[in-house]
Amino acid sequence: MNNKSSSKCLEPYSVKVEKGKKYAWCSCSLSAKQPFCDGAHSSTEFKPIIFIADTSGIVYLCGCKYTKKPPYCDGSHSSL
Ligand code: FES
Repeated sequence: MNNKSSSKCLEPYSVKVEKGKKYAWCSCSLSAKQPFCDGAHSSTEFKPIIFIADTSGIVYLCGCKYTKKPPYCDGSHSSL
């Protein structure tokens, strides 16, 4: 098994975050609460990426799981 997930999503999620609040971004693609972790990774090698929002507002979190700057979209989805 490689270190990449098998996400079927090929675009970022637009989500509203609150400055200072902690979030857990799903890296395994199995969560039913995309783009956030719901614990579904427990049977895989993947771990969620924990991050604290540094601003309040809309952010674009990676949905394809191939970003090089997790949890944020870096445009990698456009070359999949
Ligand atoms: S959705 Fe993954 S890099 Fe954009």
